[in-house]
Amino acid sequence: MNDKEGPEKLIRSHLTGMTPYAYVAPLEAATAESGVAVDRIIKLDGNENPYGCSPKVKKALLEYPFYHIYPDSEQRELRQALQRYVSAPFESIIAGSGSDELIEFVMRLFIDPGDRVINCVPTFGMYQFSTDAWGGKVTTVPRNADFAVDVAEVKKAAGKGTKIIFIASPNNPSGNVTPEQDILQLLELPVVVVLDEAYYEFSQKTLVPLVRDHGNLIVLRTFSKWAGLAGLRVGYGVFPDNIAKHLFRIKPPYNVNAAAQLAALESLKDLDYLQSTVKAIVAERQRLFDKLAEFQNLRPWPSEANFILCSVVNHNAQSICQELKRRGILIRYFKTPLLKNYIRISVGRPDHTDALVAALSDILLK
Ligand SMILES: Cc1ncc(COP(=O)(O)O)c(C=O)c1O
Repeated sequence: MNDKEGPEKLIRSHLTGMTPYAYVAPLEAATAESGVAVDRIIKLDGNENPYGCSPKVKKALLEYPFYHIYPDSEQRELRQALQRYVSAPFESIIAGSGSDELIEFVMRLFIDPGDRVINCVPTFGMYQFSTDAWGGKVTTVPRNADFAVDVAEVKKAAGKGTKIIFIASPNNPSGNVTPEQDILQLLELPVVVVLDEAYYEFSQKTLVPLVRDHGNLIVLRTFSKWAGLAGLRVGYGVFPDNIAKHLFRIKPPYNVNAAAQLAALESLKDLDYLQSTVKAIVAERQRLFDKLAEFQNLRPWPSEANFILCSVVNHNAQSICQELKRRGILIRYFKTPLLKNYIRISVGRPDHTDALVAALSDILLK
């Protein structure tokens, strides 16, 4: 093909104008912009674990002798360990390269071009992104003013052509949990309900036990947040039998690499340590909330996750974010129709909170 534009013209048409995912920038980019050394950046923009992974993970990765061998495609050891951790049958569990990949698998399994996916915004960006990528159509149902899922509106919206409803609980970025009775109502609809429990360890609220009796409920989890493995990419889902058996057929063989499987396995062997860091983050969440509430310009929302959403009043959220970045502190800001002037701050260590509060005082009280 000589025509330089030829191959581009062959790209699936729905992908050429697709909005890319708004990912968090790497540490090096923050260093380049702020001049603050990588190891001094305070990273509160990705809901990662500020205590890092378990020391057992680092040791096991160093000593692992089989990096030259393909990983177990069936993820047997990891799924056996997860079976105990999650209290769900071995056959119902499938791991992915991050829970992001499991969202992709669900799309691959269910979405034909034009099929509808219900997205309760504001929420995690991957649901829209993956639906777009697979040629589905998103039906947007805004959450209520308190960020609760508007169940009545979802029911109205779930007409012909709807195949999937995504609910993050706790929701990112609002931090609230969707009550069981709401999920039970959604499960009565003839669609698949994907309940994303990425932040389960911080809320301690799960609906995994419902999967057994509901053939249309999928629960997704991740090691990125509580176990400090965001960089290794490992998550898992709990699927009803009638879905799991098909997912196994369409899953690429070695989707979770050997290092990620090993790291997840070692994490599950070091629960005492990891749960102690989760406990520290939950305690710090309250301290951070109280400190943020003292600023007249900030209205923090109660959160059951490892981040806090704040609406910003009489000040500009974006400029707060930029001012903090200049000082080497990274947070997220939003300016969407539903989150017009908001920031989201991941819960860090106590020294991170102290540095953030000092910087915010400098920015907001001067
Ligand atoms: C609600 C929600 N689900 C899933 C993820 C992604 O998890 P993973 O790193 O396992 O792909 C995130 C990350 O921010 C999230 O907020």
